[in-house]
Amino acid sequence: MKNLITITDLSVEELEDLIHTAIDIIQNPDKYAESCKRKKLATLFFEPSTRTRLSFEAAMYELGGSVLGFSEAASSSTAKGESVADTARTVGCYADIIAMRHPKEGAPYVAARTAGVPVINAGDGGHNHPTQTLADILTIYREKKRLSNMTIGVCGDLKFGRTVHSLIAAMSRYNGIHFVMISPEELRTPRYVISDILDKTNTRYEETTSLEDAMPKLDILYMTRVQRERFFNEADYLRLKDTYILTPDKLKHAKETLSILHPLPRVNEIAVAVDDDPRACYFKQVLNGKFMRMALILKLLEVKVW
Ligand code: CP
Repeated sequence: MKNLITITDLSVEELEDLIHTAIDIIQNPDKYAESCKRKKLATLFFEPSTRTRLSFEAAMYELGGSVLGFSEAASSSTAKGESVADTARTVGCYADIIAMRHPKEGAPYVAARTAGVPVINAGDGGHNHPTQTLADILTIYREKKRLSNMTIGVCGDLKFGRTVHSLIAAMSRYNGIHFVMISPEELRTPRYVISDILDKTNTRYEETTSLEDAMPKLDILYMTRVQRERFFNEADYLRLKDTYILTPDKLKHAKETLSILHPLPRVNEIAVAVDDDPRACYFKQVLNGKFMRMALILKLLEVKVW
């Protein structure tokens, strides 16, 4: 039985298979409409979510399956003190597959040990968010027609932004990737991401505080929100939250072929005026997330569609 706890649980070949399945789903949705009939997905969300939870639910419904679950810890027996391991073991009696979001790093890994059914990490604390990376990668692939040889700027809260950690882990496996990591000093990429991923894969990277300086060389600009919920101190959040605000003016120095991504939700870091720029891809990313989650559910449930 396979789980998805970190993006590197999927090999490059498996990731490419998921992309091909997602593209086939986009082109032939009817073929998949009953592929998960009588299968149940449980969404266990101990933290708020709009896109991840609802796209998992939409994905399962579009595959002909059903969904159960909860969207906050307070409405589950966690509020009475039940452990993640016991919750997962219980839900594994009712559902065929589980998607779990939790504020504690490693909680989906703990759940996977007792659930008895595949567990998908739908975001664990400031650690990883592998299914967001699936959305990101399908978006990059559909925009660029390749996953290699590009300069990717990641901008904002690189310390707590779990989507960035997963994206770096996934993309550093491809040739010719150069990361430009743009953040305030206090929100730099964790050193373990640099030593365990970028250094080990010999991926080129640079760190800067200047979005303006980085802009002209970027093929992808991946903006992120400053993660208020992970700060220990409100004053620090307020000081850092508007460090980077992408505006049409700043994009004057960007390539015509730039693709702008953001995992969303956005707070203030991309001006609404940028939404009309043809380079803005963040709402395409939302939709791509649903198709990749459909492909992932099929893979983990070992459902073959011909
Ligand atoms: N990108 C993302 O994880 O969004 P939600 O928090 O709305 O699920």
